[in-house]
Amino acid sequence: MGELPGSRALVTGGTRGIGAAVARHLSDAGARVVVSARSRGDYDGPGHFVAADVATADGPHQLAAEAAAHLGGIDILVDNAASQTRVPDGVLAMTDADWLTDLNGSLLSAVRLDRAVVPGMIAAGGGVIVHIGSNAARLPQPAALAYASAKAALATYSKGLANEVGRRNVRVNLVSPGVIETSALSARLRTLADEAGTDLDTARRQFMTTFGVPLQRPGTADDVAALVAFLVSPAASYLTGTNHVIDGGLLPTV
Ligand SMILES: NC(=O)c1ccc[n+]([C@@H]2O[C@H](COP(=O)([O-])OP(=O)(O)OC[C@H]3O[C@@H](n4cnc5c(N)ncnc54)[C@H](OP(=O)(O)O)[C@@H]3O)[C@@H](O)[C@H]2O)c1
Repeated sequence: MGELPGSRALVTGGTRGIGAAVARHLSDAGARVVVSARSRGDYDGPGHFVAADVATADGPHQLAAEAAAHLGGIDILVDNAASQTRVPDGVLAMTDADWLTDLNGSLLSAVRLDRAVVPGMIAAGGGVIVHIGSNAARLPQPAALAYASAKAALATYSKGLANEVGRRNVRVNLVSPGVIETSALSARLRTLADEAGTDLDTARRQFMTTFGVPLQRPGTADDVAALVAFLVSPAASYLTGTNHVIDGGLLPTV
């Protein structure tokens, strides 16, 4: 048994990519897990699945209620689901609807879910939350500026929530991934390889060189999940209000 025997965990966006890896790591550490997404798709990982759209006003509240009913409470919340609107013509071409989509999908989704879950954590004597941000908050791409702005706001919100609920024994931390090779990036790399008439490994290397990533490889979902599993464990009991950048060394430290 690992570090989290009997802990009750909710992971949003848990059916693919980083979220699915987090669900697996938490389950391997002994947690009971609820994974959530809009649809189950072909998810066959651990945990109980609950369908919910966390970008809606009611979705997070309903998800919190269903997850708490299934688990008997929530000790660990990983706010991972997010959406990214790409507008190739850049920020001046982004409409209000584009902005609101990303603010709902990447900021308010977490705010609303925390609002529904934290009171139960406080009543139970404590809990731990991890928000999945992005290094795009500090390295915004023009075609996805609403997403980057939402993630920047998530970072500020995460710190403020940590300040507020620390005295109630609820820890809140942010994990900010860089380029992580989930299915979306794999598809993009395959397109780049086809366009350049090269193979996937070469396209991956060129992509990372272009970005200037010191470790010269994309991260994996497991890289991020291992960090999340540590942050929610008792070994991290004095960590709150922190931002953990996991990007192969891309961002400067300050
Ligand atoms: N991959 C990267 O390079 C990278 C870099 C920096 C930050 N991040 C952050 O890491 C997190 C996970 O990214 P990922 O690349 O692992 O994503 P992914 O592979 O595209 O998976 C996204 C997950 O979120 C769910 N989801 C999306 N919108 C949702 C909604 N409105 N309501 C409920 N579930 C929703 C998806 O399922 P459904 O579509 O079925 O709902 C899926 O389970 C996100 O917060 C992302 O911003 C990723």
